[in-house]
Amino acid sequence: MSELDQATLTAGEKSVVMPVLKPTLGNSCVDISKLTKETGLFTYDSGYTATASCKSAVTYIDGDAGVLLYRGYPIEQLAKNSSFLEVAYLLMNGELPTADEFAKFDHEVAHHTMMHEAFKNFLGGFRHDAHPMAMMVGMVGSMAAFYHNTLDLEDPEQRRLAAIRLIAKVPTIAAACYRYSIGWPVRFPRNNHAYVDRFLHMMFEVPSEPLDLNPVAAKALDLLFILHADHEQNASTSTVRMVGSTGANPYACVAAGVAALWGPAHGGANEAVLKMLAEIGKPESVSSAIDKAKDKESGFRLMGFGHRVYKNFDPRAKIIREMTHEVLAELGVNDPMLEVALRLEEAALKDDYFVQRKLYPNVDFYSGIIYKALNIPTEMFTVMFAIARTAGWVAHWLEQQVDPEAKIGRPRQIYTGYAERDYKGIDQR
Ligand code: CMC
Repeated sequence: MSELDQATLTAGEKSVVMPVLKPTLGNSCVDISKLTKETGLFTYDSGYTATASCKSAVTYIDGDAGVLLYRGYPIEQLAKNSSFLEVAYLLMNGELPTADEFAKFDHEVAHHTMMHEAFKNFLGGFRHDAHPMAMMVGMVGSMAAFYHNTLDLEDPEQRRLAAIRLIAKVPTIAAACYRYSIGWPVRFPRNNHAYVDRFLHMMFEVPSEPLDLNPVAAKALDLLFILHADHEQNASTSTVRMVGSTGANPYACVAAGVAALWGPAHGGANEAVLKMLAEIGKPESVSSAIDKAKDKESGFRLMGFGHRVYKNFDPRAKIIREMTHEVLAELGVNDPMLEVALRLEEAALKDDYFVQRKLYPNVDFYSGIIYKALNIPTEMFTVMFAIARTAGWVAHWLEQQVDPEAKIGRPRQIYTGYAERDYKGIDQR
């Protein structure tokens, strides 16, 4: 073995030689699985900044070079030439579909979009002002109650069907949550619509008149869905895998992913960006916002800036930035928020604090401005992310189910609590 094929850790008298695993692309990984057995030591890596949790062939990111590949295909090429549904197929199956394969997939997804009528009872249990992400966690999780007893996780066809159902029904649930919150009747999915058009109809068509859907809006949303479809072992996907590692029902796994996505450090950032831009209000207030973000005492961060992996630029942000101007112009929207966003980006990119820490606009910095132009309410922004990321979640869940090395996820800890002590009766405390 050459030096690069192994790493040695010396702990006191003991030395452990560990293999170094080689990925097709990216950093090599020291396989520490024998470390504890041989030394009694654990490793500590809060937030998994240097820890690979699995082997995966779905998505590759080079954070320094700003590269994102789905199954080997650059995000820029997929954004230009593909559609979200084709990307979902690619993520799930590993290859781009032929025309016949795509037609079959499209047909299958379209024919699994309807929800059981009993879902309306669940919906009716929420307060009218419930946050749609809270409703999504509950509604997606409740799918487990409808498809549990008959689900055999050992059967590849049943696993595939669960994945199709999730891709198909999550948009139906999302639109139903929105309509419930504004008091509109739930709109059923139409099989003759393409995936994104179908969703926009379910969101915005009223019973009294047909929706005149702007193709620019549908194309913009499709592109945003492609850009959000997967991002390797991010917090929500890792959550889906963690729950999946226990053998849990796939709908419950994805509901856990939705919950993880909701946080403002993850998918919730798109909602937080728009709130932040509204608070800043005008371009003249940008410099005080920058000062506040640099002041650690303030507890304020520039939402839509920074990324755990991208330390150069986020390729998705670059694509969205270009399309924002185009979409707003084509939809005839003149949004003052865009001016605030541009000024904020310009000021941050010139500021030493952000330059030194390699903090660049991420995918969520511009997506909210487009969602707003499409009349999607702010509370629904993270739901949009969840619809798209469902494609990635199911691809990872499917991959994990057949991974011969997969184990139940069970990290260790550094215990910092009391050493053993004796119980005292209440009168002695
Ligand atoms: N504004 C101001 N300072 C920041 C920001 C920000 N947005 N992000 C990081 N920093 C500072 C941070 O205070 C720290 O400074 P110091 O070294 O002086 O202590 C340094 O930069 C490194 O930050 P970190 O928190 O250690 O970095 P991380 O890799 O753990 O966090 C992040 C990544 C995305 C959670 C973080 O950058 C952040 O909170 N950004 C704002 C929220 C956001 O936009 N999230 C969406 C991420 S992209 C969509 C997705 O994939 O979910």
